[in-house]
Amino acid sequence: RCGCSMSGDKGDARPLGIFDSGMGGLTVMRAVRRALPQERIIYLGDTARLPYGTKSADTVTRYALQAAEHLMARDVKAILVACNTASANALPALARAFDPLPIIGVVEPGAEAAVAATRSGNIAVIATEGTVRGGAYRAAIHARMPHAKVTEIACPLFVALAEEGLTQGEIVRLVASRYLDPVFGAGDARPDTLVLGCTHFPVLAEAIQQAAGKDVTLVDSAETAATDLARVLAARGLLSKGPAQSPQFLATDAAARFARIGQLFLFAPINEDQVTLVDLSA
Ligand code: DGL
Repeated sequence: RCGCSMSGDKGDARPLGIFDSGMGGLTVMRAVRRALPQERIIYLGDTARLPYGTKSADTVTRYALQAAEHLMARDVKAILVACNTASANALPALARAFDPLPIIGVVEPGAEAAVAATRSGNIAVIATEGTVRGGAYRAAIHARMPHAKVTEIACPLFVALAEEGLTQGEIVRLVASRYLDPVFGAGDARPDTLVLGCTHFPVLAEAIQQAAGKDVTLVDSAETAATDLARVLAARGLLSKGPAQSPQFLATDAAARFARIGQLFLFAPINEDQVTLVDLSA
C-alpha cells in the first residue's frame, strides 16, 4: 500500500505523475528533474481542454480527478499537481479520492517562496481567474505571514500567450503593462515580491519583470514544489534509487504541437515520438 515493500535496492521504481492543463507544468517538471534525476516522470498535459483558469471550480475539479485517475492507471507512486488552478480548486477532492497516494500542489510551495523572499510583506500574486477567485494564495500566504498585504491579479491572457510560444516582444510587453501597471505604478505602496501563481508564467518572466520593475523579486512554485515532493517521497520511502530515467509525455490533443512548444517550458528537447495522445473522458 505505501510502496514500502518495493523499497529494495532500487527503491521504489514506479513513476511520478505530474499534470497541468497544458504545457505550463513543464516549468515545474524541470525543477523536479533537477531535484530528483533518478525518478521516472509521466507528464500529462490536458491540452484538449485548456485553459482551466477560466472554468468553474466544479469543472476544474472534474478534469483534475480525470487526469489523476489516468495517471493512477499508470501506477504512479505520487502526483504533483503542476497547475495552480487545479491546486487551488481541486486539491482536497484529489486527496480524498486517492488517499493515501501523496498528492502535492503548487499553491502552498508558491506561498512559501513568496514569504521567504519578501522584506516588506507587500506581495502581489498573478494567476488565472480560477486561482484568484478562491483566494487560495491569500490564505496560504496569510497562514505563514498574517500581516502580509496580498494583492491578487488575474492575468488570463498570459496563459494564451505562453501556449502560443509568444514569450517576448511588443504584444507581451503591452499585456504585462496592462495587468501590472495599476499595482506596480503605485509609488510607496508597491509590492516588493511578485508570485508567478500560474505555472505558465515563468516563460514570460522577462516581460513580467520589466513591467513590474527591476527591484521586484519574482518567485514561482517550481523549486519549492520540487523540494516538497522530494521530502514527501523520502519520508514515505518512495524514492527511486535507480539510474536516471527519460520522461514520458501524455497530451490530450496535438502531440506535435506539444513537443514543439513544450521545449520552451522544459528547456530541454522533446521529441514528438515521446508524446502519446490520450483521452481522459473515455
Ligand atoms: N498552468 C495553470 C496554472 O498554473 C493553468 C493555466 C490554464 O489552464 O488556465 O494555473
